[in-house]
Amino acid sequence: MPGSSRTSVTTMVTVLIGIAGLIFILARAGAPIAGAEPAARGAVVEFTPDGKLKQPVGYRQWIYVGASVTPNDLNGGKALFPEFHAIYIDPESFADYKEAGKFRDGTVLVKELSSIGSKETTSGKGYFLGDFTGLAVSIKDSKRFKDEPGNWAYFSFGHKYPLEAEVSKSPTFACNKCHQDSAKQDWVFTQNYNVLRAAAPRSK
Ligand code: HEC
Repeated sequence: MPGSSRTSVTTMVTVLIGIAGLIFILARAGAPIAGAEPAARGAVVEFTPDGKLKQPVGYRQWIYVGASVTPNDLNGGKALFPEFHAIYIDPESFADYKEAGKFRDGTVLVKELSSIGSKETTSGKGYFLGDFTGLAVSIKDSKRFKDEPGNWAYFSFGHKYPLEAEVSKSPTFACNKCHQDSAKQDWVFTQNYNVLRAAAPRSK
């Protein structure tokens, strides 16, 4: 019937206008979402419903702040941590540190361990990176860790692969104490991290 075909054309035009309108709205909505990075803050690390920390991902693309090695050779064969340690900070907390010179609530630091591989290469004798061996994390959070000294909690995913997928926080005496007693700034060993020292505001 002519009447019904006119109706279907009208319906089709209405649907097309509707789709175009939707695309327009979505395109406009996309702009502020893409710019609204701070909203993603909570997702730097994830916890299980019972409070365990899931192994962080993507941290090798965070800001590298320093590295240390305390080899057995220099510690009578009994180094506490006889590997390389590479330390990273999540990018937004780094940006905040550059402005404020302190660690904001929500700061996540990762310490990734690697074995000592070769002790000699074409440039001479030394300590050269072996394989990844372990992972540790510290997080400052005044709500979640309000009972921890300095509001810092510490997590160890192990010193041997395969690492744990999720872990509970370590006991306060096992980690927090040494950091509280010996770290230069707010439980963090900034004395070892030249990237952080150079980034801090000059007045500090
Ligand atoms: C005997 C002292 C001592 C103890 C105990 C200790 N740490 Fe540390 N930690 C250090 C030192 C020193 C550094 C500086 C970097 C390096 O040398 O590895 C450090 C660095 C770190 C960092 C990098 C960020 C920062 O705060 O400087 C993390 C994360 C970390 N330790 C986690 C842990 C965890 C998890 C435990 C407990 C399982 C632990 N630590 C126990 C001495 C200690």
